[in-house]
Amino acid sequence: MLALAMRLPEFKKRFDKVLARFLDRKMREMRGLVRDAYIRSVIEHARTLSIAGGKRIRPYLAYTMYRAAGGRSERIIDTLVGLELFHAFALVHDDVMDRGTSRHGVATANKKFGDAQAILVGDLLFNWAWEILAPTSARAIFAKMVDEVIAGQMLDVDAVRRSRVTDAFIEEKMRLKTAMYSFVRPMQFGVSLAGNMTQESRMMKFCERFGLPLGLAFQIQDDLFDLTGTSKHLGKSVMNDVKEGQKTVFTRYASRDPKNREWLNRMKGKKLTVADRKRLKKMFEESGAIEYGIETMETLFDQAGRALLDTGFSKRRQVPFSKIIEYIRARAN
Ligand code: IPE
Ligand code: IPE
Ligand code: MG
Ligand code: MG
Repeated sequence: MLALAMRLPEFKKRFDKVLARFLDRKMREMRGLVRDAYIRSVIEHARTLSIAGGKRIRPYLAYTMYRAAGGRSERIIDTLVGLELFHAFALVHDDVMDRGTSRHGVATANKKFGDAQAILVGDLLFNWAWEILAPTSARAIFAKMVDEVIAGQMLDVDAVRRSRVTDAFIEEKMRLKTAMYSFVRPMQFGVSLAGNMTQESRMMKFCERFGLPLGLAFQIQDDLFDLTGTSKHLGKSVMNDVKEGQKTVFTRYASRDPKNREWLNRMKGKKLTVADRKRLKKMFEESGAIEYGIETMETLFDQAGRALLDTGFSKRRQVPFSKIIEYIRARAN
């Protein structure tokens, strides 16, 4: 039997076993297709990156919503592997776009094999996700999710070309590439799989009201970690947004001072020294950008909390969702 309200650590343990089993099977199939040892190692990297780390937040959100909507099948985890494979695809391509060099504590596919092979590694992961998700009753939500994350990434990619963007631009990019992609749609995916028609529209609305603010907070946190975290701890490159000229809530706030804006534009494409990083961090603090970002996040966490109180779920049914807010609020990576 499925545990009723599994918490994320327990879910991750179970989920990772199922994910590893799927990837092991794929590796066997691919070895049957390709004899070349080098290409086999490129393909193997799809497995390595997916297994090496990752919080599994998207499948967990889908799972929690599936349970809340009355879903009971044990096979749900097999299906949710598809969501994580899609995420692995999105990260592999994201690291090509952002020139990321490490992910989940291992070298990115683009760093190890070059951009062209990395695109193909991503394509493989996308195909495996599609293989699992296409036959499900929730494929329409998956399709929407893909459109949204691509549009969000388009905004994100274009942001680096622009010397200035508006708050509305940053919000739209965060809404599409993170809040819809990583929160609202995975949650709705879980509702749809549960197939509980009587509660569906109410549940779908809850996903939006809860997932949207939480997802925006999650992206602001991700951008904060990029400025304040270490690569060792996060398992991915840091200060990457400054290096790439990416526009975030923090760079936008700091850029209200033209001196900072010029400085950030100068740092774009530069190999940042230890001293550069230290001075930049200080600038983000002293400009009030960090404080502003943290306050914005807190407001968004409160909004998600209020959406939960308004659902009409019993106190007991609210618990897994309030734990999700707590988990994200306290996360360190
Ligand atoms: C990273 O997502 C990209 C964002 C949307 C911020 P996660 O932080 O969920 O990635 P992993 O898989 O847990 O590393
Ligand atoms: C990645 O966004 C979002 C995806 C849709 C995969 P970022 O570029 O902000 O995330 P990190 O910091 O590289 O994980
Ligand atoms: Mg990116
Ligand atoms: Mg990135």
